Amino acid sequence: MQLKGKHILVGVTGGIAAYKTPILVREFVRRGAEVKVVMTPMAKQFVTPLTLATVSKNPIVVDFFDPENGQWNSHVSLGTWADAYVIAPATANTMAKMANGVADNLLLTTYLSARCTVFAAPAMDLDMMRHPATVKNIETLRERGVEIIEAEDGELASGLSGKGRMAEPADIAFCVESYFARRDGSLKGRKVLVTAGPTYEKIDPVRFIGNYSSGKMGYAIAEELASRGASVVLVSGPVKISARSQNIDVQKVESAKQMLDKAKAAFADCDAAIMTAAVADFAPADVAEQKIKRHGDFSIQLVANPDIAAELGRMKSEKQIIAGFALETNDEMNNAHGKLEKKNMDFIVLNSLADKGAGFMTDTNKVTIIEKNGTTTPYPLKSKADVAIDIIDTLERLMSTIQK
Ligand code: C5P
Repeated sequence: MQLKGKHILVGVTGGIAAYKTPILVREFVRRGAEVKVVMTPMAKQFVTPLTLATVSKNPIVVDFFDPENGQWNSHVSLGTWADAYVIAPATANTMAKMANGVADNLLLTTYLSARCTVFAAPAMDLDMMRHPATVKNIETLRERGVEIIEAEDGELASGLSGKGRMAEPADIAFCVESYFARRDGSLKGRKVLVTAGPTYEKIDPVRFIGNYSSGKMGYAIAEELASRGASVVLVSGPVKISARSQNIDVQKVESAKQMLDKAKAAFADCDAAIMTAAVADFAPADVAEQKIKRHGDFSIQLVANPDIAAELGRMKSEKQIIAGFALETNDEMNNAHGKLEKKNMDFIVLNSLADKGAGFMTDTNKVTIIEKNGTTTPYPLKSKADVAIDIIDTLERLMSTIQK
């Protein structure tokens, strides 16, 4: 219920993507928001007020007043009621009017009087989308603080294919959720570095030494941090997954050396670092410039890679927290305690390959969190998203003992 108690005003304009707006309204309601809907007269041709009134659980407003009884629909009170105003779909016509201060319907007068953040999810044909007039109007709105939720590439109602599809309702809801997290979350104003995924150490132009790390644990941690309002720098090795939240700055790297450089550069102004990357311990001493030809046995000389966690541990100030992982196969507790100390960590998350459902590539993990003061908390098998919650709860508790 990330939007519990939030007032969200949804503005609907006359585009075919309006058929998705009831789903968007449900996404908001499902997350605990109270939703009201304002429509342009044209929007009623694409989606009925009855549908939107039913899913939003509130009457729809379209006109400045009710012709039956003269009751005034106040754009000012709608604008002050809303914590966020989300115009989806936003047609080229409505955005042009917004950019020029035209106020010829209730949706637009509400826009002009809204004090909250306004989001617009454009939807139109690809040629309208790339027309210089539209491009300029969107830019103007962006400069004035409207959060533009970019249209996607794909099949359009016209039968053409290109950029112009309205972002999916779940993604629009997620954008709005991220905005409130940045504004109100328990980690707002905090910056956290996360390393994730494997590293690839080049042998020649086509071969590398790597490992089976999927990055799932690190990405789940980054999303959890972002959902609590932290701004996250995610230094990621090569993985097949991507980050969803806008609060995550993904910096892709390949080798341990590249990961070290990015992590060191980011750490200086971070409050914490969570090291989940499965960094290769060794890299080939030399990288062949050409593909190595097959000619019988051959061996590669390996040299030790930098220990990123330990380097950050040396840089760490009293105000910073470092957490890491220990993936063990034997003598788990002793090894984890050893790493915690050697790398100057504040807590370490132990997972054992001996436990079913734990470790690389799975969607679940079973961990024990060991803190510097010796506190040891074992957790049952959980999804990686839920393990991330336990880890960030621990981080928040430790952060609260440090004065900012
Ligand atoms: O020593 P070991 O590799 O088991 O330590 C695991 C922890 O140290 C993890 O948090 C991992 O991300 C981090 N690490 C690192 N750089 C390395 C090796 C491990 O940051 N070169």
